[in-house]
Amino acid sequence: MSEGSFIKKELYSQVKLVELIKRINARYRYKDIELWILGSKVEPRTSSIDLRRVEIDLKRTSYIGELREIIAIEKSRGRKIALIPTMGYLHQGHLALVERAKQTGAFTVLSIFVNPLQFGPNEDYSSYPRDMERDALLVDIAGVDVLFHPTSEEMYPRPMVTYVEVGQLDTVLCGATRPGHFRGVATVVSKLFHIVQPDLAFFGQKDYQQYLIIQRMVGDLNLPIEVCPVQIVREPDGLALSSRNVFLSPEQRQEALILSQSLNEAEKLLRAGERSARVLETQVRERISNESQGVIDYVEVRDAQDLSEVTEIESPVLLALAVRFGATRLIDNKVMEVDCSCLE
Ligand code: PAJ
Repeated sequence: MSEGSFIKKELYSQVKLVELIKRINARYRYKDIELWILGSKVEPRTSSIDLRRVEIDLKRTSYIGELREIIAIEKSRGRKIALIPTMGYLHQGHLALVERAKQTGAFTVLSIFVNPLQFGPNEDYSSYPRDMERDALLVDIAGVDVLFHPTSEEMYPRPMVTYVEVGQLDTVLCGATRPGHFRGVATVVSKLFHIVQPDLAFFGQKDYQQYLIIQRMVGDLNLPIEVCPVQIVREPDGLALSSRNVFLSPEQRQEALILSQSLNEAEKLLRAGERSARVLETQVRERISNESQGVIDYVEVRDAQDLSEVTEIESPVLLALAVRFGATRLIDNKVMEVDCSCLE
């Protein structure tokens, strides 16, 4: 076995780069050794590390045809296929989806595509954070089998005239303030489903409404795909991880903690016996406006299955919010039951 393939195997079994560096260093005690991944030199995090020059090549493609060929081979070997659709600038929230997908033993395909169709004309499509080389490194370390990162031309070679629209669910919450957003999401996810033909697809509950919409689309259109929800991943202080968090100033980042805190307090109120959806919403709204400069888009309690309106809380509900800090719009939510076991 060549050194390169040994290290590649080591890499696949690791989640943390620091860990990997330690392991390589323990095996090879050379001076002036460097770690090269996907053409980029990886800076060791501690000064005492000496690394051998290693090239690591994650299977990655921008082409639909090439991806289909790779997947066909895996399917012919009897492998199940898992898809993790993302828009990149990856963080631990995305990697939690990868971890769940890998636990199934399926061949994992992660897509990175900042989908123009789901951004409104005044939204942040052009400024959405992008860093493909950093993402490719994370994806490789996490053990993804193939990275699919198509261009807009590959996904939309001509103007689209065919769309997927999931009615009702897409008119409330984020759908009310971002018209056309979920049509863009459902359309691109539908395209990805047709391209990859996965058995399983993983979505985070951070975007709970998106998850419900995709699940409904799959049901309504009889797509043979299991949609798997994954819990929200948070920073230790409670802030839900989001690619957009990088845009927050240190002050905004601090103020944004009010989102998860107010959701937790609403849950406590419910646990203490409060059953009025309006009371919970008002409490969250007041805390956010009193204790931050955040501008509220919405704070709403909705039925957790179909997003219908709720007055008295009896069955599982979604308490969801969207708040803007400067130009950065953050969302967060909590799924709660009347016995208050958190379903998030
Ligand atoms: P993106 O925002 O990149 O998110 C990709 C996936 O990661 C989504 O399923 C999202 O819910 C999940 N995710 C993001 N932050 C998370 C967190 N803190 N905890 C758990 N999961 C989290 O959502 C999109 O991209 C796009 O709309 C997409 C589905 C790719 C269609 O373009």
